[in-house]
Amino acid sequence: MSESSRSIQQLYEALPWPPPNARGTRRSILLSSWLTGAVFPRRYPIAHGRRVLVAGCGCGESALELVKTVAGIEVVGVDLSQPAVSAAQDAIAGLERDDGLADQATARFVCADLTNTDDMAALGSFDLVICHAVADYVPDRRALLTTLAGALNDHGVVYLSANTPDHPAAAVRHAFNALGVPPVSLAQAVQAASGTDSGGLTPVQRQTLRMVAAALGAGGGVPELGELPASVLAADVFYPFAHHLPPHQWVTDARDAGLVLAGSRVTSSAIADVLDSAVLPLLGLCKGALGELFQRLRHAPSVEMLLSASRAEPPPFDDLKTLGSWVPSLDESLPAHALPEWSADQPDVARPLRVQSPGYPEVTVHTTAASLAVLRAVDGTRTLADCARIAGVGLQDVYRPVWRAWVSDLLHLRSP
Ligand SMILES: C[S@@+](CC[C@H](N)C(=O)[O-])C[C@H]1O[C@@H](n2cnc3c(N)ncnc32)[C@H](O)[C@@H]1O
Repeated sequence: MSESSRSIQQLYEALPWPPPNARGTRRSILLSSWLTGAVFPRRYPIAHGRRVLVAGCGCGESALELVKTVAGIEVVGVDLSQPAVSAAQDAIAGLERDDGLADQATARFVCADLTNTDDMAALGSFDLVICHAVADYVPDRRALLTTLAGALNDHGVVYLSANTPDHPAAAVRHAFNALGVPPVSLAQAVQAASGTDSGGLTPVQRQTLRMVAAALGAGGGVPELGELPASVLAADVFYPFAHHLPPHQWVTDARDAGLVLAGSRVTSSAIADVLDSAVLPLLGLCKGALGELFQRLRHAPSVEMLLSASRAEPPPFDDLKTLGSWVPSLDESLPAHALPEWSADQPDVARPLRVQSPGYPEVTVHTTAASLAVLRAVDGTRTLADCARIAGVGLQDVYRPVWRAWVSDLLHLRSP
């Protein structure tokens, strides 16, 4: 194990994540509507019998929540910190004993390095790998992406989150360096004094934190910097090896590991903002590439991506003749009977179509009466050209709204 990996192991052994006073209080990643609504049930079902790897599980919060939420799911949690793994093992034992989940709860926790190929291979293959708030702390990120890719079965997908250069911690570290206080010295102070009342920082150091927070202002995103618990300061703010990479670097590295960006949290909303006549050059791109592009344009403190091992060819939107032979089908969240009947007085004027089906977040697609008529003709067997003919319009009049429905995952297109 490298020296930097050893140092992250020591950090999380001294301060298992999350800190005891924050357990059960954090917003769960599984409550993110993007994951639970827009992505998982519709495209990557987490259901009975599925195997899920929680990579860097800490004390097991997400793993336990999965077990409680989805009956019959099999969860494996892996973490480098033995105290964190022990806490997760105690928690699952408690769940089985106290909540009567003995039949349903199948979670086990293993202490291992995610970049160790042999240890990872021994765990088998998974439908879903959740790697949330971990990749930033793994020095050899390419090795990590390779083992995560190797842990997927044929249709598996990796959920990966990481902090970007726009994360407030980057500005805080910069400020401390400018003050002549190397951030790593604060991380070491916090770690050395874990478990003590001071949380490892002297009153003067705490005061300095508050000063930096005030200097960065509300826009710095860290108004509560001076009050953060020691483990958050040590790992998230002062940890010297955190990558803080721009999203496209992760996408490029993932590609080298054989993973394709299948979607990102910003994709749908960002795409909706730029749909106009300038989109034509983008039409040949797959959804993942579009997401990557928009993430480069958007500033966000962290990025949430889905990386898939399968490479689906994008439909040929730039070649209408060929596109016409592809077969569209409506997503289950958009049942044909839920499509409104719009009068054709103004067939070319785009109007917002709000799609809300139980269990899914609302999606808005701008569409015209003409393209709506095309969507109504979709039955999963006809070609797009046939649907357009039934609707009485030319393909060139509707391909753009069809494209919108496709990037929003409301419409699937199958090659002939
Ligand atoms: C900030 S915590 C996040 C924990 C959890 N994923 C969550 O969202 O609550 C990062 C965790 O990643 C683990 N970790 C870091 N590098 C690792 C590696 N190479 N192998 C296994 N676990 C690792 C740490 O021990 C720590 O528990």
